[in-house]
Amino acid sequence: MAAAGKILAGFLAPHPPHLVYGENPARNEPRSTGGWEILRWAYERCREKVKAWKPDVLVVHSPHWMTIVGHHFLRVPRLQGLSVDPIFPHLFRYRYEMEVDVELADACYEEARREGLVAKKMTNPNFRVDYGTIVSLHMLNPDWDIPVLGISANNSPYFYSTAIGQEQMIRLGRATARAIAKTGRRAVLAASNTLSHLHFDREPELVEDMSKEVIYNHAQYQWDMRVLDLMRKGQIEELLAILPEFMEQTAAEVKSGGLTWMLSAMGFPRVPAQIHGYWTVIGTGNAVVEWDLTGGTAVATPGA
Ligand SMILES: [Fe+2]
Repeated sequence: MAAAGKILAGFLAPHPPHLVYGENPARNEPRSTGGWEILRWAYERCREKVKAWKPDVLVVHSPHWMTIVGHHFLRVPRLQGLSVDPIFPHLFRYRYEMEVDVELADACYEEARREGLVAKKMTNPNFRVDYGTIVSLHMLNPDWDIPVLGISANNSPYFYSTAIGQEQMIRLGRATARAIAKTGRRAVLAASNTLSHLHFDREPELVEDMSKEVIYNHAQYQWDMRVLDLMRKGQIEELLAILPEFMEQTAAEVKSGGLTWMLSAMGFPRVPAQIHGYWTVIGTGNAVVEWDLTGGTAVATPGA
């Protein structure tokens, strides 16, 4: 019998397409002169750790795969295509190819239903994967040599209230953790979320002109710092307590549930998170944050 799986780490992994655009990978068509290095270098440090851990799967929850009826899991063994950002098509036209961990998708589906959630498997072989999923996965592993599992953002619980939406994410996190344990996976999680999300609506002539890149306003910055400080100190209860107000005050993208899902799956760890970098993209607050659950010791065991 396979050893019980475990979650090695979780990342807050924001997905502005600008980060891919600034990096100029061969998979993305538009070319840039750079930009947003603070965040890109932050991701580079994470890439090294992910490589060293050799996880079986990267599991990502994206706010830009919106589903109305239930929480959906990618369930096609191999997906490929061209992803074009609907807001920034001049920055992001990305050719993706990904191997999906369908066994884990099945297990997540079963466990989500056991939690009383509405869940579905996404089995359309021509499905176009959203840019949030792709940017976070590219920034964590641009080689795409680790299987992935994408999870949608189910919007309908928020028609009732933020609290109901977040409560569903806690259950989805528990379901994900059980599925990982049962399938024996060594998994890394990613919450594909920006923090504060008020932003400018005019681009500079040169999109990557970093002299124009500032936070939208000081109140938003202070909120981001308050949230990041609680993460750094491992004060998870306090963090959860202020998240609803944070979402309200800054239109924070974490409202879509990825962060709450990930923290729940990790058992609401009190370990201090590592902030690898924080900066703005069109005025929004973005932080690359890591919760390392390995104690800094995890390496893949041969044959395990
Ligand atoms: Fe977004």
